[in-house]
Amino acid sequence: MTSPVRVLITGGSGLLGRALVRELSSREGVLTLAPSRREVDLLDPARLGQFLWRQPADVLVHLAADCGGIGYNVSRPASMMHANAVMALNVFEAARACGVPRVICAASCDAYPAGAGLPWREESLWDGLPEPTSAPYGLAKRFAISLGDACQREHGIEVLHLVFINMFGEDDRFDLARGHVIPATIVKIAEAQRRGERRVEVWGSGSPERELLYAADAARITVQALAGPGISGCLNVGSGSVHTIRDITGQIASTMGFDGDLVFDPSRPDGHPLKVLDTTRLRAALGGPSAFTPFGEALRRTVGAFRRREAGSR
Ligand SMILES: NC(=O)c1ccc[n+]([C@@H]2O[C@H](COP(=O)([O-])OP(=O)(O)OC[C@H]3O[C@@H](n4cnc5c(N)ncnc54)[C@H](OP(=O)(O)O)[C@@H]3O)[C@@H](O)[C@H]2O)c1
Repeated sequence: MTSPVRVLITGGSGLLGRALVRELSSREGVLTLAPSRREVDLLDPARLGQFLWRQPADVLVHLAADCGGIGYNVSRPASMMHANAVMALNVFEAARACGVPRVICAASCDAYPAGAGLPWREESLWDGLPEPTSAPYGLAKRFAISLGDACQREHGIEVLHLVFINMFGEDDRFDLARGHVIPATIVKIAEAQRRGERRVEVWGSGSPERELLYAADAARITVQALAGPGISGCLNVGSGSVHTIRDITGQIASTMGFDGDLVFDPSRPDGHPLKVLDTTRLRAALGGPSAFTPFGEALRRTVGAFRRREAGSR
């Protein structure tokens, strides 16, 4: 009998982390360890190493991050950059010290240079600075990529960075201050419905276009990458499903039964006009195209999870 593959996930209570824990729970031969931030605060240089000495891992999947929507990025640039860079340092040092042979990290499309040709390809990651609103976060992600590459060369750790496009799903942060456009719009519409208001404000002009990835699909792809040894470096993970902010917020309104007005505020930042990833390398690595949950269905599940959570908290 072979012993199970031990997978340690950081950020297991987050949007992608919960989806990944669910996805792995259905796989045979995998033992999933997902310590909470209280058990292993990654800003503490000693905690992850102490955990790994007690509970060794074959693969470390580093998803933990200080991240959020555009408002969060704009209000906490230094704190986010610091936290994400320190977490990367502590994760790779713990992996080295405890002999973890393989690390998979969540990188982000926000690491891409603002001026790189679209769709973004892995080889253009270093061709300039990211868009200013997300640069501190994006550069911390690039720091992790560079550190991972150095650890692979010096310490022989196999390191893969999955460069995710914007994600959403059931376990999103339904939080106005921190949420990305989908959870933030869901919260705003729910509040308007509760107060009987017919007007909801949306940041920016509505014209930027975003490729969106359902977290459950991202988790499935992460497991496929995990099962395929020998993949290292950066791999874009996108769905090919691209929508304007106006379309996304309109679909949320109709899913939630809101027939009031969505009012766009162009005085608020738009962020990058278009974010879309080239996934040629992903398809080659996984041996073909992936099937993705249709956007409308993923949105219905996300709104359903939000409604259930709201009902439970009352
Ligand atoms: N969401 C997106 O659209 C998107 C797009 C591209 C890339 N990514 C990347 O994908 C990964 C997962 O994103 P997500 O949306 O799932 O993030 P999330 O929902 O915000 O979850 C972040 C996770 O990190 C944990 N964490 C934060 N600080 C920590 C610390 N000091 N020590 C230990 N754990 C800590 C959080 O724990 P608590 O719950 O206890 O705070 C939470 O479990 C991140 O690396 C993110 O940068 C996300």
